[in-house]
Amino acid sequence: MKSFYLTTPIYYVNDAPHIGHAYTTVAGDVLTRWHRQRGESVWFLTGTDEHGQKVMRTAEQNNSAPQAWVDKLVKEAWLPNWRALNIANDDFIRTTESRHTERVQRFLQSLKDSGHIYAGKYEGPYCVGCEEFKLPGDLIDADGEKLCPIHSKPVELVNENNWFFKLSEFAPLLLEHYKKNPQACQPESARNEVIAFLEGGVSDLSISRSTFNWGIPVPWDTDQVVYVWFDALLNYATAVGLTDAPDSAGGKKFAATWPADVHLVGKDILRFHAVIWPAMLMAAGVDIPKKVFAHGWLLVGGEKMSKSKLTGIAPSDITDHFGVDAFRYYFLRAIPFGSDGSFSWEDMSARYTSELANDFGNLASRLAAMIEKYCDGKVPAVAQDAALAEALSTTVTQADEAMVALDFQGGINAAMDFCKRVNGYVTEKEPWILAKDPANQKVLEEVLYNTAESIRALAVLLHPVMPQTTEILWESLGVKESLGPIGSQKISEIARWGQLPAGSVITKTPVLFPRLETKA
Ligand code: MSP
Repeated sequence: MKSFYLTTPIYYVNDAPHIGHAYTTVAGDVLTRWHRQRGESVWFLTGTDEHGQKVMRTAEQNNSAPQAWVDKLVKEAWLPNWRALNIANDDFIRTTESRHTERVQRFLQSLKDSGHIYAGKYEGPYCVGCEEFKLPGDLIDADGEKLCPIHSKPVELVNENNWFFKLSEFAPLLLEHYKKNPQACQPESARNEVIAFLEGGVSDLSISRSTFNWGIPVPWDTDQVVYVWFDALLNYATAVGLTDAPDSAGGKKFAATWPADVHLVGKDILRFHAVIWPAMLMAAGVDIPKKVFAHGWLLVGGEKMSKSKLTGIAPSDITDHFGVDAFRYYFLRAIPFGSDGSFSWEDMSARYTSELANDFGNLASRLAAMIEKYCDGKVPAVAQDAALAEALSTTVTQADEAMVALDFQGGINAAMDFCKRVNGYVTEKEPWILAKDPANQKVLEEVLYNTAESIRALAVLLHPVMPQTTEILWESLGVKESLGPIGSQKISEIARWGQLPAGSVITKTPVLFPRLETKA
């Protein structure tokens, strides 16, 4: 069976990660956790892009050899960052690994042998920040100086004999592909951008550089290194065995994984993924990815957050204050996936308090307190409130539809609306009033069962988004033995009412979302 295969961009290791990078990777993690809970086989890849001038120059500025520089950053900044954010990737690829460099060389040689590569001369502007050849029309003019519109920095003039890939040959095929398959590039705005770009005409692409050597040598011309994007895009396929013989371990992995189901990217790198990458694959006769999804930017002062503009916020600046799960929740909940959004400390504090602490956390702690007080700490007999059960069923359908369509906001909203509904149910039934008269004991127990069962469902629904907190909640529901680990609960089973067994011992949860310290 083919796995659901999702990738994030591989990040440049010229610096430590900021919350823009974390935004993409967390989204990928939430989506893959969701698909795992749908019972699918999943493969989730992330990694680092380590070649090219940008990384090389940063290493030089830090008086370091490039390999030593990237080794240090990956080990000390990137891997610990993903661990801290609870990212459950299945593989991590670094473009300096031999499994990558060897496969890139084999792939390139095959394109040369099949006549898709030729020698030429490149002359034109290049932005090292983007690692991209620019068209004069792409640039902004600042007092006669040409600047990259993304980095607001001067471009450099490149004048070299290089190897070229016949990209232009594939433009008509790609245009047809995106017109026919709306799913292949999302959201709609991204697809329109790609179609307009392809309609504008596409030139061949210079795919090697000769003026520096921090890259993969071109196999038939070792004075040149492979252009960093050509090298980097291939990671998605080299990591799962591209170019390996079909009956080898790599070849089998490739058959079980490729084509990728979703390449998750920021909108800044859409064209590389929706134009250059599928053209490279088409040239080699390899299937192209099923979907490229371009999300928006986290903005600071109306501009893309970036380290080079000194606006990058480290994920730990936020998680130290709000916790990891609130970080994972907030950006996906607050910003429609595909649109830009600004980070605001105030908005995050407000949502933390009202949605996470009050709506969700308090519901769990109230339930535990009431079960302890009125039912000796044990889940009462199975009961069912038809309206609540029906609402749950609708919630699960809505959440699943939204999540698989990468509408994280819609998916989370569905769960949080159900949470509100359960709070409303408790408020309406007033168990604390029922408890005053022993004649109401049965009704009281029904209300508490329905509440507890709803919380069981909420824990599973929110597990992909907030794995640690929901795990704690799962422990407190005392169902690890009877229902199994929370990660193995299936989405399709969530709405089956009455799973929480009577007699389970509920322990009081530690406060799931503690009151925020006032930030000085
Ligand atoms: N190395 C290339 C990607 C190669 S993929 C074959 C690259 N790296 S990067 O370090 O610059 O990271 C790019 C990705 O980080 C973006 O596409 C996006 O996913 C994420 N983000 C970086 N800054 C961001 C924001 N300010 N906002 C949202 N996402 C951002 O490009």
